[in-house]
Amino acid sequence: MIKLDDFSSFFVANWKLNGNFQFIDQFISKLSLPKDRSKCVVICPSSIHLDYISKHKIGFYVGSQNVSQHKEGAFTGEISAESLSDLNVSFCIVGHSERRQIFYEKDEDINLKSANLIANKLIPIVCVGETLEQKEKGITNQVLAKQLKASIPNSSNFGNTIIAYEPVWAIGTGLTPTIEEINNTHHFLKNHNPKFNNYKILYGGSVKSNNVKDIISLSNVDGALIGGASLNSDEFTKIIED
Ligand code: PGA
Repeated sequence: MIKLDDFSSFFVANWKLNGNFQFIDQFISKLSLPKDRSKCVVICPSSIHLDYISKHKIGFYVGSQNVSQHKEGAFTGEISAESLSDLNVSFCIVGHSERRQIFYEKDEDINLKSANLIANKLIPIVCVGETLEQKEKGITNQVLAKQLKASIPNSSNFGNTIIAYEPVWAIGTGLTPTIEEINNTHHFLKNHNPKFNNYKILYGGSVKSNNVKDIISLSNVDGALIGGASLNSDEFTKIIED
């Protein structure tokens, strides 16, 4: 398993349902990685491209966007944590809000998925985040604490799991919380329960080259999860550059 403490920050590209072999070849040939090797760069393509990108990667890590909550058996169409580990995949996004909202994933599923990943020495990147309605009701912290409590398995610790805070209303919208709000929410996530004091917590939701530096420099932010802006190799290079 990757030693998370070896890295100062994490930049995770979530390509969602985008990309093909030609796109991957072009992206890799144009991508320029940071000189600072303490920055951990992770690319999460669609499942069908995991093997190809694992074999062609240079200097970055590969992550999956999802995994089955089941270990094996009669679960047509599913992909197990063990299969991901066979492909040299090191990370896996779990509980992204698109999975929670469109595919009805529950905290309990996310908990099982994360436990399976940890058992197979992959790092789950567990996503939590409030909706706009929850934010407007002033219950963001309550919602996040509840999601974390239910979706982080007992086997999880700061050395084998990453948390990503992604406000649902900030994903793909160009909207972000203020810098102060991001830092305060990350501070809450790390401090509301001593278990989470040392966890790495990434921010996600409309991260771009023009806001990443302000976000990443916050004391409670350990990296970024990047969707739309990670599909352009020039923009992604600017996001990860020194
Ligand atoms: P975005 O997506 O950067 O396009 O807002 C982030 C995510 O969905 O992880």
